[in-house]
Amino acid sequence: MDFKACIFDLDGVITDTAHYHFLAWQRLAHSLDIEFGLTDNDRLKGVGRMESLEFILAKSARAFSDSEKEQLAHQKNEDYKDLIREISPADMLPGIIPAFDWLKGRGVKVGLASASRNAPVVIKGLGIADVFDYVADAGTIPNGKPAPDIFLDVANAFGLDGHECIGVEDAAAGVTAIKAAGMRAIGIGDRDVLAHADIVLAKTDRLLSEGLERI
Ligand code: BG6
Ligand code: MG
Repeated sequence: MDFKACIFDLDGVITDTAHYHFLAWQRLAHSLDIEFGLTDNDRLKGVGRMESLEFILAKSARAFSDSEKEQLAHQKNEDYKDLIREISPADMLPGIIPAFDWLKGRGVKVGLASASRNAPVVIKGLGIADVFDYVADAGTIPNGKPAPDIFLDVANAFGLDGHECIGVEDAAAGVTAIKAAGMRAIGIGDRDVLAHADIVLAKTDRLLSEGLERI
């Protein structure tokens, strides 16, 4: 083990909120008579709110004004917040707490690099806000994933270079961001979608034994 920090994505890695983002976007798309399925959603994982909205609206023949877009993004976020209202420690994905314990036991810094402005609420609900040595503020990061900015922001906060850090992501855009930051990547999900990761695991349950202990 030769890394000094492990930087986690949140949605779809630590908890299954990726599914709630999908449900909220799908509801919005259907209200506008736009088709939106799981394959479309793979493109949006890790992608910020307004950029995701633009992707969905591009599938419509209609044009939308800036104020309509603001209203639609607000509506999606209200629906998403309803879905996460009761999030609790029971919503942690398997294997994440053991991974945190293992990292902490070795003095490895633990960071959060989520594109979501709801991340602070989610980690509080999960009861893990204290685990992180640094949480990136998505609102202050110039360029979203697949740009490396958010992962580099966390590395900078730790005073580390990219090659001293690893990142854990479920999104293709996120894996690209980690690699662009000069870090090693563990992907969680589909091997074809996350082809550029150094290690891909189907689920989080073996993150420690097949991911962190091997990378
Ligand atoms: C990412 C999710 O973590 O955050 C995306 O993978 C989401 O689906 C993005 O669009 C922004 O989230 P929010 O909560 O700020 O709208
Ligand atoms: Mg994610």
